[in-house]
Amino acid sequence: MTHDDTPISRRTILKTTGAAGAAGLTGLAGCAGDGGEGGDGTATEDGGGSDGDGDNALEIVHWWTAGGEKEALDALLSGFKEAYPDVEVENNPAPGGAGSALDTVIKNRVLNEDPPSTFQIWPGKALFPYTDADLLNDISESVWGKNDMKSAYLDGVQAAAKGGTENFVSVPINIHRLNNLFYNKSVVESANVDPESINDPNQLLDALDTIAQETDATPMAHQTQSPWSTVQLWETVFIGEQGVGEFEDFIAGNVESLESEVKSSLERVKSYSEYFPDDAGSISWDTANSAVVEGEAAFIHQGDWAAGQYKASSEFEYDTDWGNTAFPGTSGVYSLVMDSFVFPTNNPSPEATRKFLTYAGTKDAQRRFNAKKGSIPPRTDVSMDEFGPFLQAQSEDFANSNEQPTTIAHGTAVRPSVKSNIESAFASFLESWDVDATYDELVSAFDV
Ligand code: GAL
Repeated sequence: MTHDDTPISRRTILKTTGAAGAAGLTGLAGCAGDGGEGGDGTATEDGGGSDGDGDNALEIVHWWTAGGEKEALDALLSGFKEAYPDVEVENNPAPGGAGSALDTVIKNRVLNEDPPSTFQIWPGKALFPYTDADLLNDISESVWGKNDMKSAYLDGVQAAAKGGTENFVSVPINIHRLNNLFYNKSVVESANVDPESINDPNQLLDALDTIAQETDATPMAHQTQSPWSTVQLWETVFIGEQGVGEFEDFIAGNVESLESEVKSSLERVKSYSEYFPDDAGSISWDTANSAVVEGEAAFIHQGDWAAGQYKASSEFEYDTDWGNTAFPGTSGVYSLVMDSFVFPTNNPSPEATRKFLTYAGTKDAQRRFNAKKGSIPPRTDVSMDEFGPFLQAQSEDFANSNEQPTTIAHGTAVRPSVKSNIESAFASFLESWDVDATYDELVSAFDV
């Protein structure tokens, strides 16, 4: 259910214990450079090797079926159709927030040498199992050599697009912010709560309590059916209480040196859980978010894909009906969540895949997609004029941010095997709410 990096092939085991794995880690941490050809971790330039002879059907696997996300993908695909009318698109979603269903689907297909033309994946560490096993083609020239991509993309995004290798293996298409707190304005106003004046995660608890006392609304919309939303809530609380430096220590595996910090942030999330909806265990993130739209909930912590859902809802307007603020304690921080598309080896349609990836890297694609998705473009030359006031404000916050940490819940901060262990710890936490036991599991999560 998560991006775990159990070996995709026997070769993965060999490579991750050897020099190639180490080179991959160093490559991701380093800054962006020109993607040279060759090197380890990528297959030959796309179209070569055992790829098929290429037909005009493009099968694309992704998880964007929720409100706002479907509209964004449709906008991307209709722009692609205009640019390449000869390609027939087979839109094949694997629904489930944060890729909770997609990974198994893709891993099985890759193992069976039956990959789709392309699939959605977080750039950065989530790519490592694939690059370790040489399962992604090098697209440094065939795709990244076009449309000024190498000069237009942000450096940090270019580094993530290489998946720990020296070559480009993916095309990032968006930048989401994770550390948001969204709210329904009339609900918070009816309780006399001013979200902008909440300065830290503990004060948020007081605000939730006031909402509970003063209104019939759910204080904090949230889903616990799948652990990822609680992993992201915890990591955001942790940053809000301890700062990005301590978070970086945590993701480096220095959990024991942070025992009291980790435990107090877990306690905080446990206190918030008193204010979650009664049906939190059986709903998805977008159903939870609908309660904010309907005025049945006051707050939600989510990535700004939540705002894509607001945009897709009629009569729920930014600044009139809903507002947002950086999660308490995290102003100046822009926690990054990105998505990308890749070119798997054994590709059933190399030509159509190359066309799609090339299109995904254009200004046109990034304008159409991000304006609906609730994200900002990773290209720096896309005009924000058509993005509306919310995303214009996010873009300014991004430009003015001091720190842009990665995220565990969305695959950029730790390798998939560590992420999977952390998600298991949180799955237990959601059952037991046992802070000490969860802390112990977080310590051992890094033993992979
Ligand atoms: C993230 C993904 C976003 C959004 C979100 C909710 O992992 O990067 O684009 O889809 O999950 O499913």
